[in-house]
Amino acid sequence: MTIESTNDNNNTKPAITYSECYQQCFCSDNLELMKTIESNTIDLIYCDILYGTGKDFMDYKDLYPMREIIEAHYLPRLKEMHRVLKITGSIYLQMDYRIVHWVRCMMDDIFGYGNFRNEIIWHYRTMKNDTKSFKEKHDNILFYNKSNDYTFNADDVRIEHTEATKKRYKRAKSGFTQGELKDKGKIPNDVWDDCYLVNNQFTRESVGYATQKPKALIERIIKASSNEGDLVADFYLGSGTTAEVCKDLNRNFIGCDINPRAVEITLKRLNNARS
Ligand SMILES: C[S@@+](CC[C@H](N)C(=O)[O-])C[C@H]1O[C@@H](n2cnc3c(N)ncnc32)[C@H](O)[C@@H]1O
Repeated sequence: MTIESTNDNNNTKPAITYSECYQQCFCSDNLELMKTIESNTIDLIYCDILYGTGKDFMDYKDLYPMREIIEAHYLPRLKEMHRVLKITGSIYLQMDYRIVHWVRCMMDDIFGYGNFRNEIIWHYRTMKNDTKSFKEKHDNILFYNKSNDYTFNADDVRIEHTEATKKRYKRAKSGFTQGELKDKGKIPNDVWDDCYLVNNQFTRESVGYATQKPKALIERIIKASSNEGDLVADFYLGSGTTAEVCKDLNRNFIGCDINPRAVEITLKRLNNARS
């Protein structure tokens, strides 16, 4: 981070520019990396964790969906995440229906039931259907804080109102002009269906890593729950989507993956990302 003066006679406050935000990526087990991080230092943790599918994804092997296995893996790691997070920090953990109920209980114990903010549903579309039950088409993102004093930049994540809402406002003569309504937009609710899956064959964003997440999804989280120059962590880095978004948005970043290929892809992405 560099500090520069904004005027010639140096009377005003210095402006802070973030041209030197850093991105640190390690090839490591996340528990080992977290043990090396000082307490209360991270502003935002976003992790797209192991979902407990029991599958071999080529890039990594997932855990089995058994409660003892899930708890044995996550308990020590969630405790470390709590320790390294600042008292004003936020944490988002992404998973799906297989383990969300177990992780929710552990998070309530570690972060406190009162510090639970949202269970965000990320609804995505795929061609797959099921004739024996309703096909699962969403992930669950648990959002917690460490206290009631936390960053939430609602204005940075507003989205456009639907046409129907705009018409309703117009009819109700709510005091908003159409222009104001469009500019201001609405704060997204806890169901997100406007961030599209990164399909390995058809999306330019794809880097060919199993379970890669869309940048738009992570951008919304980072904009809402951190500011420029903050330190963001992702301890299940994968292809480095969080690291790339941090670089785009001038956030400092620390993260790791146990798979060397994941770190290799991440470093390549960071080299190609805007600076
Ligand atoms: C769901 S993927 C993350 C995908 C990522 N969000 C992306 O956009 O590419 C989970 C990642 O966690 C990594 N992982 C699994 N166990 C780990 C551990 N103990 N420490 C660090 N990383 C681990 C896997 O190698 C995998 O890349």
